[in-house]
Amino acid sequence: MSRKTPIYEGKAKVLYEGTEPGTIIQYFKDDATAFNAQKRGTIAGKGVLNNMITEFVMTRLAEIGIPTHFIRRLNMREQLCRKCEIVPIEVVVRNIVAGSMAKRLGLEEGERLPRPIVEFYYKDDDLGDPLVSDEHILALGWASAEELEEIVGMTLRVNDYLCGLMRGIGIKLVDFKLEFGRVWEGDFAHLVLADEFSPDNCRLWDAETNEKMDKDRFRRDMGGVEEAYQEVARRLGVLPES
Ligand code: C5P
Repeated sequence: MSRKTPIYEGKAKVLYEGTEPGTIIQYFKDDATAFNAQKRGTIAGKGVLNNMITEFVMTRLAEIGIPTHFIRRLNMREQLCRKCEIVPIEVVVRNIVAGSMAKRLGLEEGERLPRPIVEFYYKDDDLGDPLVSDEHILALGWASAEELEEIVGMTLRVNDYLCGLMRGIGIKLVDFKLEFGRVWEGDFAHLVLADEFSPDNCRLWDAETNEKMDKDRFRRDMGGVEEAYQEVARRLGVLPES
C-alpha cells in the first residue's frame, strides 16, 4: 500500500493512483461511519466483503449494458477502476419506505411504495449531503439536462435488475445510493456508474423475516453486523474462503 500515491481518503475507502494511465485503485477499508461521521467504528472484514460484492454487482450491471468504472479486482481489498470526475450528486432509489424518508415524512418504515422514487442529495460532507431537486442540479450546473436524464434512466435500470437479482436470493432491495462519474475523452465526457455497491450503501431485508442485512445494523447498534455482510456475500456466491 505504501508504494502507491493516495489521491483521496474517504470514510470507507482510499483511492490511489492506478497502475495504468487513466485508472485509480479503490481500497476498501473496514472503517464504518454513520450520521455524517458522528458515529465511527470498524466492521471486521467489511472491506474484503464490500470489494467482492461490488465486483459482483458491477460485473453483472456491465453485462446488462450499464457502463461502470470497474475494470477488475486486484486482490482481497483493492479493485482497479477507470478514473472519472464524480458528479457531485448522490442518487438514492427507494422501493420501500425506510431511513431518512420515513423520518422526514413521518411514514412507517416498511411500507412498499407504488413505484420507485428517485431522490438527489448534494454531495457535501460539511452540509450533511442535503436533499436537492433536479431544479437545483440544473440551475447550479452540477449536471446537464442530458446527463441527468441519463443518470435517472441508468438508475432505474439498475434498480429493476438488482431488485430481481436480490429477490432470487431471498432479499428485498429496500433502497440504495449510486454515484456517477464523467470519463473524459477529449472534449467529450461519457457517464459511468462509479463508487461501490455494497451493504454500506443499500438497505437489504431478508424476504421472509424482514431482518436487516446492511449497515443499519451498525447505525442502530443492532449487533451481528459482520454476520449480515457475510450472509449477503454468501447468498450472492462471493463469500471468500476463510
Ligand atoms: O439515510 P437514507 O434513508 O436517506 O439512505 C437511503 C439509502 O442511501 C440507504 O441505503 C443508505 O445506505 C444510502 N446512503 C448512502 N450514503 C449516504 C446516504 C445514504 O449510501 N451518504
